[in-house]
Amino acid sequence: MSGVCVDRVAVVTGAGRGLGRAHALELAAQGAAVVVNDPGVAVDGTGATAGPAQDVVAEIEAGGGRAVADTSDISTWAGAERLITTALNTFGRLDVVVNNAGITRDRMLFNLAEDEWNAVIGVHLTGTAAMSRFAASYFRDESKAGRAVNGRIINTTSAAGLYGNAGQLTYSAAKAGILNLTLTSALELARYGVTVNAIAPAARTRMSAGAPGLEQGEGFDRADPANNSPLVAWLASAESSAVTGRVFEVGGGYVGLADGWSHGAHAEIDRRWNADELGAVIPGLVQQSPAPTTCFPIPGLVGTVGTGPAAQAASR
Ligand SMILES: NC(=O)c1ccc[n+]([C@@H]2O[C@H](COP(=O)([O-])OP(=O)(O)OC[C@H]3O[C@@H](n4cnc5c(N)ncnc54)[C@H](O)[C@@H]3O)[C@@H](O)[C@H]2O)c1
Repeated sequence: MSGVCVDRVAVVTGAGRGLGRAHALELAAQGAAVVVNDPGVAVDGTGATAGPAQDVVAEIEAGGGRAVADTSDISTWAGAERLITTALNTFGRLDVVVNNAGITRDRMLFNLAEDEWNAVIGVHLTGTAAMSRFAASYFRDESKAGRAVNGRIINTTSAAGLYGNAGQLTYSAAKAGILNLTLTSALELARYGVTVNAIAPAARTRMSAGAPGLEQGEGFDRADPANNSPLVAWLASAESSAVTGRVFEVGGGYVGLADGWSHGAHAEIDRRWNADELGAVIPGLVQQSPAPTTCFPIPGLVGTVGTGPAAQAASR
């Protein structure tokens, strides 16, 4: 088997369907042994069935790849630890964690219920933290034992987490939390040979049903989940060791960096401001700053991109 991930071992959460399934298939096609995690829940996180994870394993094995199914619930510390242990017990090592699992319970702030908040934060933010925590302790132990570590954690955020999306308050907040988990864990794990990056994907899945721009048109299917997976495979590979703490927008034929918060327009004096002075200052600063980017249109799905230097090189 050849490919950019030969001999690597990857865990993909939520890999029974949608984007996770596409990532698992691509990682296997690139030579990785894959732990296909999915408890097979409904889009709101309820129910459970082992079928989706088993089906993806069967698909990988039919293609000559190596995979094992796991139905752990990654929103708990115990489930995340069990999943990491499954990888180690089955394949003897771990190189890559792709935190992809997700659910939605879309609500506006004014009618959001506590259990809806907890469920969505639980799978996205707690699940990403729990998986990262147990992967991190494994990578650190390996590094301290003197073994070479080329570890990868690849998180999944969203345009909603980057820019906000009315109607998806909890989901957006959880995905924004994952952005900072990415930045801070990248800082903490660099010394152990581990990179941490995030993707904000775009694809037609059951979760995104009804979102604008995802319909299958003529020609290149920009909303095919598999379009997002080559970037995941490359980030999972040993080749990407110099790239960490980055957030990538991906979808269709688009791949690009999302620039994060940075110090912006400002004013400074050598004493505390008085509240009644700020009316003459803040509006000017706001005017000097670019307006916030919005969630839609999502890059890669609108067909207006593909003109950057890298795209020109790829088309040659
Ligand atoms: N589809 C898009 O356009 C899009 C855009 C931005 C971000 N995302 C993100 O991509 C990821 C994948 O979403 P998708 O669109 O493929 O949705 P999907 O519903 O097709 O797949 C999500 C999978 O996660 C699994 N899952 C849910 N709870 C889990 C848990 N506790 N433990 C383990 N697995 C669990 C589900 O069973 C399901 O198979 C999510 O994090 C989502 O927020 C998707």
